[in-house]
Parts: sequence; structure tokens; C-alpha cells
Amino acid sequence: MFLVAVIMSLATMSVAEPICEESLDGPQFQGRATYFHAAPAMAGNGACMLASDDPMVVGMAGANYENSQVCGECIEVTGPQGNSVVVSVIDMCGCEENGLNLSQESFRILESDVSFGSIDVTWRVVTCDIEGNINYRFLDGSSKWWFGIQAINHKYPVARMELRQRRTNAWIDLERSNTNFFMKPTSISTIEAPFELRLTSVNGYVVTDNIDAIQSDELIEGTGQFGNCRDNYDCTIDERTYSGEATFYYGAATAAAGSGACMINTGGDLMIGAMTAALWDESQACGECVEVTGPQGDTVFIQIIDLCAGCPEGDINLSTDAFTQLGNLEDGRIDIEWKVVECVVDGNIKYKFKDGSSKWWFAFQIVDHRVPIKSIAIKPDGQDTWIDLPRQSFNFFLQGVDVIDVPFAIRVTGTTDEVLEDRITRFPSSMA
Ligand SMILES: *[C@@H]1O[C@H](CO)[C@@H](O)[C@H](O)[C@H]1NC(C)=O
Ligand SMILES: *[C@@H]1O[C@H](CO)[C@@H](O)[C@H](O)[C@H]1NC(C)=O
Repeated sequence: MFLVAVIMSLATMSVAEPICEESLDGPQFQGRATYFHAAPAMAGNGACMLASDDPMVVGMAGANYENSQVCGECIEVTGPQGNSVVVSVIDMCGCEENGLNLSQESFRILESDVSFGSIDVTWRVVTCDIEGNINYRFLDGSSKWWFGIQAINHKYPVARMELRQRRTNAWIDLERSNTNFFMKPTSISTIEAPFELRLTSVNGYVVTDNIDAIQSDELIEGTGQFGNCRDNYDCTIDERTYSGEATFYYGAATAAAGSGACMINTGGDLMIGAMTAALWDESQACGECVEVTGPQGDTVFIQIIDLCAGCPEGDINLSTDAFTQLGNLEDGRIDIEWKVVECVVDGNIKYKFKDGSSKWWFAFQIVDHRVPIKSIAIKPDGQDTWIDLPRQSFNFFLQGVDVIDVPFAIRVTGTTDEVLEDRITRFPSSMA
């Protein structure tokens, strides 16, 4: 059986940046820009039905409008003088392909003499420099029979919107209208709130929110933004805060050396804990980082490396080292609140293969991940399909069904739905 695990060095592997971090700074377009008096569009009467306080707005040519997917997108426009301005798309214009109809205010930054009427510009899509969360608005007249919902204040264009009703597992795709609303599918007769909403950006970020009621034409404040976790290492991965009790155990050093249920070796770090079976998720909890707040308001950051089969949901069994940062051992049990946060890690994800891994079978775990790992898929060179690898309860992903040799591509998906693609070129046992 697998006794020894070997850490595979990634020195020879180029670790791809997460796909979702791919720059939006895509191709440059060249076109003609005109200008318009943007006040009506800024009041929400443009094709995108997006109101704007900021006059730096633009109408996009029909040929570039992508059935309103460009709405809310930010573009950087450079004029003949070399000046640039960033504008957001709130309208469609009757321009030729790659042409823009700029607000007069933004046109002036590129060409102060508006009597020119139209100028040559180049432009490209950029990340919107915005603050706060994505908000939502239902179309006027929305009800459980018929509704449309739009996302407002998103950093990247929205590629997809889905919803899921309580007590169901299926996500339902909403249909994008050309006025920048996502509509309830007519194939379903009624959809009632509350429901979960899931937005995917064009570059792969996912935000999930809860909608409590279908309220016509009112701003509904959301709780997330595309790509937020990338800006702030301590941000919460999962919005839930759990309440429970902390217990403690002696001998955490043994677990931290790799004998815990997660088989994670923390390299001597004893800020660790064991997760209740109810939230263990077939070892998906392994390696996740948790911020635990004790009864006195003190907090400690721990990593989950073990399973606490006897703990009720909400409880965490902490190492004595972690427990004593929050309370006294004499107390035995203390009240805690906790939430999953991003781990602060140096460097890239690593793959730790079981010794003896070969094309006949192999098993590996992911080490040094910033967010919990949801799934792993691999794609052997020359094949078109990704193969999901099943997660084992001991926090390894196993391939033992087919003959799969190196090299293969690997796709790691985090619980935040961030995706990282990598390549495995050899099994560690074949390393010198
Ligand atoms: C720009 O917008 C104005 C106002 O909507 C419109 O009259 C004009 O025709 C537009 N220009 C182009 C080139 O579509
Ligand atoms: C905490 O972990 C220790 C060591 O595994 C175990 O003996 C103890 O029962 C656990 N506490 C609870 C409440 O399950």
C-alpha cells in the first residue's frame, strides 16, 4: 500500500495563473467615436437600462453589443491626441462596428474641440475600478410569473446568471435579454423567492447571493464582488459564520506531522483543528483555514487537518496551543464563532504524490492551497475530455481505473470556483 508520500517539486513546472485572473485587457479595437448628450441614458433609459451618476459613459456599436453582455463593462478609450478616458457601457449606438458614441464629457477629454464631431479612437476592455458589492434590481412589474433581474456594479462583465430555489439542487439558467436583464425562463411557470442567485463573470469568477423577495424596481444590495478574494488575503471564502463550542486535544503534534485524517504535514505548525463530521465533506474541509473567535473576542487562525467524529456541527476540536489563545484549558469547552477564510500561503500550489504512483494508479493531495479544493480533473495529452478524479476520505485524489501516463494537464477547482490549470510531466517515483 501507499506508505510514503513524496512531495513533488514544482520547480520544473510552470504554474499557470488561475484562469479567472486572466486579464481583461484584451485586444485593441480601432474605430470612430462620436458624442451624445448622455443625460437620458444616465437616467437609466439607455439600452442597458443602467443608471449612472458618472458622466463617463458610452454607447457601444450594435456589432459589439453581444446581446447586452457588454453592459456595465469598462473600456479605456484613447483619442488622436493620445489622451485616454475610461468609460462604462450603458447604451448601444447606431455606430459602425468598433465605433463608440461617447458622452460629451468623455469625448472632450480626448478632443477638446467638440466641433470635430467625430474622431479616430482605439479602445480596449479593462477591469472596472469600482468599490463595493454587486447589487441587483428587478424589472418593474416583476412577479413569480415573470421577472427579469439585472446586476449592477460588477467589476467584470456578467457572462451568466443562474438561480436555485430552496430545497432543490438544480441551477436554472436565466435568459439574457438585450436590455441587460436576465429573465425567468418561460418553460417554468412560477419561481418564488427566496432563491439563490449565481453570477459568473466572463473571466470565470463566481458570486452567489440570496434574494429574499422579488421586489420590483428596487435596489437590492448584494454581498459579493467578482475577484474580491484576490484583493484581500483575509477575506471570507464562505459568508457563513458558525457558532459552536471548541474542545481541545493533546498530542496535536502527531496529527500535525501527518497522522491526522487529512494526512497533512504542517511542518511543525500547531495552529490546527479537527472539523466535525457534519462539515467534513468527504475531506473537502482538509487544509482549509478557519478564523476562530473565542468568548473574550480573541481570534486565532487554524488549519483543519483532522476529523472530529464526535463533535456536533459547529464545534471544532482545537490543538491545546490554539485553544489557549482563546480560553483556559480548565474551562474544557468554550463558546466560539468561526468562519472559513483564505489561507495565507507563500508560493504556488504543490502536488504531493503517493510513493509508487505510476500510469497504472496514482494518488496525490494538494498542498499549500489558498482556498479549499472542490474538485480535480485531468486531461491526458492528446485527449479532449477532462476526467474527474474522485476524492478519497483521506484527502487524496485517486486514479486507479484507467492507464493514464504522464504528461497530463490538471485542473484544480477551488470552492470559490476559481480554476487553476497546470501540467504534470512525471511521477515523482520516476524522479532521480
Ligand atoms: C450618438 O447618440 C446620439 C443620441 O442618442 C444619436 O443621435 C447619434 O446618432 C449617435 N451617433 C451615432 C454615430 O450613432
Ligand atoms: C478531540 O480530539 C481528541 C483526540 O482525537 C479526542 O480524544 C477527543 O474525544 C476529541 N473531542 C471531542 C469532543 O470529540
